[in-house]
Amino acid sequence: MTLNRLISRRHVLRTGAAFTAISTLSPARVAMAGPTEDPFLLRAAAGQAALRPAPYGPTDVWSYNGSLPGPEIRVRQGDRIRVLARNGLNEGTTVHWHGIRTPNAMDGVPFLTQDPIPVGGEFLYEFDALDAGTFWYHPHQRSSEQVGRGLYGPLIVEEANPIRVDRDLTWMLDDWRMTGDGQIATDFGSRHDAMHGGRIGNSVTINGQIPDRIAVRSGERIRLRLVNAANARIFGLDFGGLAPVVVALDGQPVSPHVPDDDIVVVGPAMRVDLVIDMTGKPGESLTITDVFYRDLEYRLVDLAYGPDRLRDAVPDWSMELPPNPLAEPDMQAATRHQIIFNGGMMGQMMMGGGMGSMMEQMREGNMWFINGKAATGHMMDPLLVLPQGTSHVLQMDNRTAWHHPMHLHGHSFRVITRNGQPTRHREWQDTVLMAPEERVEIAFVADNPGDWMFHCHILEHQAAGMMGIIRVDPGTTKT
Ligand code: C2O
Ligand code: CU
Repeated sequence: MTLNRLISRRHVLRTGAAFTAISTLSPARVAMAGPTEDPFLLRAAAGQAALRPAPYGPTDVWSYNGSLPGPEIRVRQGDRIRVLARNGLNEGTTVHWHGIRTPNAMDGVPFLTQDPIPVGGEFLYEFDALDAGTFWYHPHQRSSEQVGRGLYGPLIVEEANPIRVDRDLTWMLDDWRMTGDGQIATDFGSRHDAMHGGRIGNSVTINGQIPDRIAVRSGERIRLRLVNAANARIFGLDFGGLAPVVVALDGQPVSPHVPDDDIVVVGPAMRVDLVIDMTGKPGESLTITDVFYRDLEYRLVDLAYGPDRLRDAVPDWSMELPPNPLAEPDMQAATRHQIIFNGGMMGQMMMGGGMGSMMEQMREGNMWFINGKAATGHMMDPLLVLPQGTSHVLQMDNRTAWHHPMHLHGHSFRVITRNGQPTRHREWQDTVLMAPEERVEIAFVADNPGDWMFHCHILEHQAAGMMGIIRVDPGTTKT
């Protein structure tokens, strides 16, 4: 399939699309019930969604509470989140709270932290929102298909004193592989996708719609929370002359900065909070372009200024978010671990772990390896056992020809170096995008006890073995 052809088809689809008011792009919001009230009910089931503008008909999807994305769960930092997940699908599922530091039993990983919720069954998720920021939820069972069919939603934890903005918007970006008749292509689990960059689609949506134009006002300041819910697509957004400032990554505050080359890169599962001043004039419009893949640039959406002006000058309000209560790794005492990634098309199969054993595992359908091992399910030996409370540096070495957004559950980590160079912001992340052949070091305190998934969030890579367990052991003491 050629992406170019499909993308140009998408442009054709857009012709004649109606003006999309931004309000219709805001997910439904739910406030969290108090501890004595009923939990919030989140039901996964097959449904339909109007991904494409009229006159095209709806697309069959799997969604939460019949909406796509699922409802925006919005709480205050320190609140207790209580969600009763009900399974209306025809197969088992779970809910994982991506980036949230939950107790292990609430992490939603089937066969590791809980049994899958059976068809017709329920599971009560209950945990405190320790960190403010932009998070999301999705199943962790057969994720490539369940997430790929639309099961995901935003989870926003508000700061006690948020930064001042005129509007606070969430955009969940997704990428769908659609057939000519507007349905989701059923080729989940394709071997070709797994060996290459994952399931890249041909139709990009913002909050479940292929948008055309979004209304803004001259002079307004917007906090834009970008969430990449795509299986595999990496976004690199060019805001067409605007100067977005990054204020948080993966929910965690970062010193406000303009991104490199003014391109906002969001890998699968990652979040970027931006502060954007709408500096254009009334009546103007601009195009947000996704330029991540060379020669495959496309228009994501246009922003259209309304006739009036909200204010004349850019406000001088602070963009600095208050830090979250994360434990600072002790770099002197930290234990270092080497983690080598191999596999995929054009990978350096020879390096690390032993060629023979990887060839053997490939015959079983695995294509990606962490320290020479492919995950064959969730019941595997841990990659690392870390005594609770100790500091660690993972020296990650991507010996493949592909990008990998590597995600660690239950913790946030600091990204400290890339190819040996210290990072400018020592940013906290829960998912770090490694470029082909890149070496990335992350540091964290193993302070949350339990068995935690460590995996690539290109969901087809995860399914083809790019996954391991990091055990934080409350019972071992550091020797
Ligand atoms: Cu977003 Cu292991 O998950
Ligand atoms: Cu990967």
